Amino acid sequence: MSKKVLFVCLGNICRSPSAEAVFRTEIKRLGLSHQHDSAGTSNWHVGEPPYDPMQKAAKSHGITMSDLRARQVTARDFQDFDVIVAMDRKNFNDLLAIKPCGKGAALVLMGDYLENDKEKGSDVPDPYYTRDFDATLDMLHRAMPQFIASL
Ligand code: 4NP
Repeated sequence: MSKKVLFVCLGNICRSPSAEAVFRTEIKRLGLSHQHDSAGTSNWHVGEPPYDPMQKAAKSHGITMSDLRARQVTARDFQDFDVIVAMDRKNFNDLLAIKPCGKGAALVLMGDYLENDKEKGSDVPDPYYTRDFDATLDMLHRAMPQFIASL
């Protein structure tokens, strides 16, 4: 069944648009038809395209995201999506704080889909601070197959 998936980070200009772009590339390759979007817990970059150095790194991995625009996550997203994927624990806790009671989207952590036991549960590193855009993309690529299989 087709699912609606929302990827969430802090600024919605590095990790979550990258996660969305890796996700859409993978599901297209697999012939799956899930819907997807991304959002930030902050409103700092609303309306902006993904961060330029992030786009450049992604392009070298064959991933394009120039069409995406930042928006802020809302409580309503818990009604509109089946799964909300937090990029790190801070994002996860910020999302828990706005999650309405009762039923709604499942809230999960991207790092929980990493295969390596030592790495499982890790935060997706924020390249806005680490400046290692490739490491972030690598982790997203490693977690994504298990995440897609879980849908
Ligand atoms: P993101 O990275 O949460 O992966 O989009 C950030 C982007 C911008 C800022 C922080 C994190 N900022 O402070 O503007």
